[in-house]
Amino acid sequence: MRMTIPINNKKVKITVLVCLVALVTLFHFLTPTAPHNYHVAHIVLRKLYFLPPVMAAAWFGLRGAVVTTLAVSILFSLHAFFDWPGNYMEQANQLGELASFWVVALVPGYLFDRQRSLLADIARANEETLLALVSALDLREKKTRMHSQRVRDYTLLLAYRFGVEEKRKRDIGFGALLHDVGKLAVPDQILLKPGELSEPEWEEMRKHPAAGYRIVKRISFLKGAAEIVYAHHEHFDGTGYPRGLKGMEIPLGARLFMVADVYDALTSERPYHAKSSYETAVAMIGAKVGSHFDPAVVDAFMQIERKELQAIAERYQGEIV
Ligand SMILES: [Fe+2]
Repeated sequence: MRMTIPINNKKVKITVLVCLVALVTLFHFLTPTAPHNYHVAHIVLRKLYFLPPVMAAAWFGLRGAVVTTLAVSILFSLHAFFDWPGNYMEQANQLGELASFWVVALVPGYLFDRQRSLLADIARANEETLLALVSALDLREKKTRMHSQRVRDYTLLLAYRFGVEEKRKRDIGFGALLHDVGKLAVPDQILLKPGELSEPEWEEMRKHPAAGYRIVKRISFLKGAAEIVYAHHEHFDGTGYPRGLKGMEIPLGARLFMVADVYDALTSERPYHAKSSYETAVAMIGAKVGSHFDPAVVDAFMQIERKELQAIAERYQGEIV
């Protein structure tokens, strides 16, 4: 099993760098340059000065590498000045070392920046591909191509208000965006039927969360989102489908999504129903606390200001075809 030590906090990384530079400087200064044995240790310690610039390049890119190498260069130059006063040959040797610090900082710094930029391009391309897919699905069923994107934004706003940690929001956003991808497997005569569905047709319709799960879980960066897709029709009291999950058995992303999706369904203009007012939608959500919805999630939803929800609605308005 692969083990990693996550050091994601920027302040922690800066503290590690400062401590490392301080420790290397201290031991380097304290270790004498004579006799020979001590000089060997002194030179080995000097090589440790390469670590902070490389680490800064990996963590912060070119800019962080330059700042760190500047600090290392100043401290190292002081050593050359104090330990080798008037020894120009040795000071020239130290100058060469100084140049090496900058090479090992600038080259990886540039490469790490380039890598981050390419990874961001790939992530953007992935997202644009998914947006095209869900837009096509929305157009097919709802005659609007922005439903899933709007629901994603409502869900993420709710996740923020609920205090969900940043790293979980990515899965929640993709889960909300792709929630109905399994409807690809639902025949047109059922999905687009204008009247009530018969029981066998409902049975077919209720298969779409599992179908969506099977599609999404095959994509490695969407495994977390797949769980939300699978559970997006579960109800808090266990009366939902397909597995009848109850309470906290339902993934948090799905509990957040359910409230966002119902709010969107009620407040959106559709060819087959008129939209409800904000007040009506909020009252209808409030009426299903504990049955359909997680009470804690609805509490967080009620704290969202009306204008925040309206800003999202306006972002995607005028998309009915
Ligand atoms: Fe659905």
